[in-house]
Amino acid sequence: MKVIRSVKEMQNTMLEQKSSGKSIGFVPTMGYLHEGHLTLIKQARRENDVVAVSIFVNPLQFGANEDLSTYPRDFERDSQLAEESGADYLFYPDASEMYPRPLAIKVTVGDRTDVLCGRSRPGHFDGVAAVLLKLFNIVVPDFAYFGMKDAQQVAVIDMLITDYNIPVTLKTVETVRESDGLAKSSRNVYLQPNEREEAVILNKSLNEAREGIINGERDPEKVLSFMRERIQQNSSGTIDYIELYSYPELKPVKEIKGTIIIALAVKFTKARLIDNTIISI
Ligand code: PAJ
Repeated sequence: MKVIRSVKEMQNTMLEQKSSGKSIGFVPTMGYLHEGHLTLIKQARRENDVVAVSIFVNPLQFGANEDLSTYPRDFERDSQLAEESGADYLFYPDASEMYPRPLAIKVTVGDRTDVLCGRSRPGHFDGVAAVLLKLFNIVVPDFAYFGMKDAQQVAVIDMLITDYNIPVTLKTVETVRESDGLAKSSRNVYLQPNEREEAVILNKSLNEAREGIINGERDPEKVLSFMRERIQQNSSGTIDYIELYSYPELKPVKEIKGTIIIALAVKFTKARLIDNTIISI
């Protein structure tokens, strides 16, 4: 596996691979890799001639009071894991390489962001869209791999690719979980031991809601108030949001039908966790 820190070198290397007829699979990450990221890399490995992974903690997608400076990092471990999972190239630029000056042309995401994390983290998806537009132009991938743990991110990237005719196919991967159901996340290391135990209720309440819907519940409000109560009673975390929308449009629904998402964010002392489930009925 080759580690590349320069934008120009990465772009030239990828263009060379592409012109020799190789398919390129790309997994963008912010590092501190866990089994969720590795599952994306392994799938890219199975489906492509060349696999590129990026590690870049993108300052543009963090709000002023968020965890940019404390976001966990461990490059040595990450590069070993990426290589073991099948990466050929690891793109690892620093912030001045990606943003030598402030972007003069901004990307503003105008749909699918007035709810969920888009509402709680203003500007977050503008930053995600901007960095991905750059990364797609640098890596020129045929396929790009994203996890459904960040389902709203997937809904936004789907629009970015469509609106700007980016010649990449979006591939999604199911959320990878710990054995007790907690969604794997780089931020889980910041949970205190009691919070780690309590955090199980996030996925559990989503599963209970799913079961209720499969058994005939059609009222979004009933599902959401049941979940709120379950989480409040079983954890010390503060609910940021628990919401239910159509997916991928992320529009409110009066009655549960078609494909919907139930998504939640809960703040613990040092980590804000998200999870979701998508149900088609
Ligand atoms: P990051 O949080 O590092 O996640 C990188 C990719 O791994 C995303 O597609 C995310 O959905 C996926 N992922 C994270 N946890 C997962 C899990 N438990 N199961 C399956 N997939 C999981 O998402 C970002 O970085 C950034 O916003 C990025 C797209 C790199 C742009 O900066």
